Amino acid sequence: MTSTTQTTRHVAVALQKGGVGKTMVSINVAGALANRGHDVLFVDTDPQGNATEGLGFADTYLEDAPHLASILADGEGDLADIVLEHEEMDVVPSNIDMFTAEAELVSAMQGRRRLERAVDGLLEERDYDFVIYDTPPSLLVMTDSALLAAGNVLIPALAEETSTRALDILFNQIDTIEENFSTTVREVGVVANRVEPDGESKRMMDWFEETFGGAVPVFEVRKRVALKRAWNNSVSIFEHDESSDMEVVFDDIAAHLEAEL
Ligand SMILES: Nc1ncnc2c1ncn2[C@@H]1O[C@H](COP(=O)(O)OP(=O)(O)OP(=O)(O)O)[C@@H](O)[C@H]1O
Ligand SMILES: [Mg+2]
Repeated sequence: MTSTTQTTRHVAVALQKGGVGKTMVSINVAGALANRGHDVLFVDTDPQGNATEGLGFADTYLEDAPHLASILADGEGDLADIVLEHEEMDVVPSNIDMFTAEAELVSAMQGRRRLERAVDGLLEERDYDFVIYDTPPSLLVMTDSALLAAGNVLIPALAEETSTRALDILFNQIDTIEENFSTTVREVGVVANRVEPDGESKRMMDWFEETFGGAVPVFEVRKRVALKRAWNNSVSIFEHDESSDMEVVFDDIAAHLEAEL
């Protein structure tokens, strides 16, 4: 055991339900990993481009090709040409043309594998310890692509009753992907988000623990304006000039990913 080479670890942050905190969690998990000294690549696969904008690249979202959409639609091209430097991580930005690229990829042979191929191409040129994928609020091509590219999924879910069905739907989709692509997609954790000191949050935390507690850790992220303020300053809470009690939670998630993947 003389090799010290650590292969790149990949995590998709996914749940098809909208507004559950996918983007907030992916930015702050990436920030937590960077804060631990890792080289992190952030891939924004969401055509909405919220993470791209939230990391300070709103202009890039509107630029012409080459961009992630053209690289995926053509099935060729180099992510190294479009990757951007953020103070905490490197970023493959989304682009408004991702909306149409997603539709084209549905009918392409192995369209859902193109993201993985593109990221592998970049990894031949550059070393990253972790690749974090933010995903759209849908179970369409880009979410499938990110799940396939990552092989691991971190699931953010609101501490609300509606999450039980949302999780069932995601797990069905993961089963389908595993069957169709003869692969495995491993659940690496659940992030209960916007937890508040009320009865519904408490009931749902009990439910998350009962349902997942034995198998994967359930992390608890509170509703905090500091998370919003960091986002508005284009950084994670680790880089933002304001301390937050949620730093320890995101650091726990990063430590878990470090240990388990
Ligand atoms: N724990 C939290 N405390 C305070 N605000 C939060 C928290 N989690 C998320 N938010 C805010 O709630 C909104 C929705 O979060 P976010 O955009 O991360 O969800 P999403 O799942 O990525 O949404 P979409 O499905 O549209 O991609 C954002 O404005 C975000 O800043
Ligand atoms: Mg989002």
